Amino acid sequence: PVLVVDYGAQYAQLIARRVREANVYSEIVPHTLTTEQILAKDPAAIILSGGPASVYAEGAPFVGPELFEAGVPVLGICYGFQAMAKALGGKVAQTGLREYGATDATAVLEKSGSILKGLPGVQNVWMSHGDSVQEAPEGFEVLATTGGAPVAAFANDAKRLYGVQWHPEVKHSVYGQRVLENFLFDGAGLEPDWTTGNIVEEQVERIREQVGTGRAICGLSGGVDSAVAAALVQRAIGDQLTCVFVNHGLLREGEAEQVERDFVAATGAKLHIADERERFMNALAGVTDPETKRKIIGREFIRAFEASEAAIMADAAAEGDKVKFLVQGTLYPDVVESGGGEGAANIKSHHNVGGLPEDLQFELVEPLRALFKDEVRSVGAQLGLPAEIVQRQPFPGPGLGIRIIGEVTEERLELLRKADAIARAELTAAGLDREVWQMPVVLLADVRSVGVQGDGRTYGHPIVLRPVSSEDAMTADWSRLPYELLARISNRITNEVDGVNRVVLDVTSKPPGTIEWE
Ligand code: XMP
Repeated sequence: PVLVVDYGAQYAQLIARRVREANVYSEIVPHTLTTEQILAKDPAAIILSGGPASVYAEGAPFVGPELFEAGVPVLGICYGFQAMAKALGGKVAQTGLREYGATDATAVLEKSGSILKGLPGVQNVWMSHGDSVQEAPEGFEVLATTGGAPVAAFANDAKRLYGVQWHPEVKHSVYGQRVLENFLFDGAGLEPDWTTGNIVEEQVERIREQVGTGRAICGLSGGVDSAVAAALVQRAIGDQLTCVFVNHGLLREGEAEQVERDFVAATGAKLHIADERERFMNALAGVTDPETKRKIIGREFIRAFEASEAAIMADAAAEGDKVKFLVQGTLYPDVVESGGGEGAANIKSHHNVGGLPEDLQFELVEPLRALFKDEVRSVGAQLGLPAEIVQRQPFPGPGLGIRIIGEVTEERLELLRKADAIARAELTAAGLDREVWQMPVVLLADVRSVGVQGDGRTYGHPIVLRPVSSEDAMTADWSRLPYELLARISNRITNEVDGVNRVVLDVTSKPPGTIEWE
């Protein structure tokens, strides 16, 4: 793989995605790995990401010169560029001059070859730095300069070492993708062989290898991820797979019926439906803390599977079989955000990663563990799943359980379901399903405000609309929905849903807010 070493900013995931958009497989590793550990992963190339630190700050991630002596092509970006310059004896200075954001920083190319091959001599680049490289290390050529950076890009073609001060992974850097591709294909000499067809083939093979003649079950949540994971495993092992749909009672209106209909029609998979509503309601009674809710839902999910196992085993008993594998639609961002065992910060315990109980009785099969969402959608399409499934907006595993701020009760679920159905129907009617990444509808169950309806005073709950646009849910912006649409949703919800007398709009990006409220 191409290893993207994460120096702690938001950029590592973006870099990894851009590399994959160039059809080259990439993985993110934390900067806390030693050079030896990094090289042990046998990287085809290494990209050092940007990061918030100054190379001079105390405790700044250290990059030793050995990394550059292993013969592996390296591209340093921003912090990675400066760390590389410093390690190899160049001069990095705190100039006091800062270039931030799309400052129209203009890179003037001193040399048009190497990783800047084929690019115009002057180009807009996205910068975010305080320090800058003043002198390139020995053996390096300066490729570009900007107003704030005398050395804005450099190269040592013989050693296949490169660096840029700007962020080529950010779309504001107009030729950013070209810079990355020049590095990958010319600098590192890689082949663009990470394609959807290859992903499917490779995963099918891996699943067969892992599962052998064993039996597997798969939880369907109704979302894209579990559906694609199930379809992949179905492709690999056919009837050795039984899909289980746990109705945890935290679903949206009509959702259970839809999963049953669409998924089975598309895949012909064996489906077992488990009505576990009571189990979840009992387990969640009295619980208000978001992380506790997530952990409980995650745990009960697995327990529900274990219960289903008995039923499925009864069928399998004739053949003297046992269900050993559990398929999960865990995605790469879930892995990274949940800590991934690689030292990243634990932001939320995603129910399908961090919430797993320790006494798990199944071995996990996670065919999407290395994939980003857009890659999962292409894999789904490749497997013949219909657009209704593949293009579906994300819905979290813990469902409405994390969209009721406060205790989850049957009554509150009922209320939220109605409000959510109205909001979704209006969004669809406005033709905005594709433009909006997802629109959580949240009930502030412990908040009440005064209203007036039909001459009477009301004391009801607010509903929050949280429409966001995003590329991968790692970052997001609030969607600028048309006022008429917002007005319609607000009118309908306050008129049609008893107990709600106010609708509010969440206008927070991520970061700082996450998409879900819990
Ligand atoms: P946040 O709230 O972390 O959400 O910004 C990012 C994306 O992940 C979804 N999400 C989940 N999906 N299990 C899931 O399968 C979970 O526990 C979970 N929590 C959040 C969320 O809807 C958004 O798309």
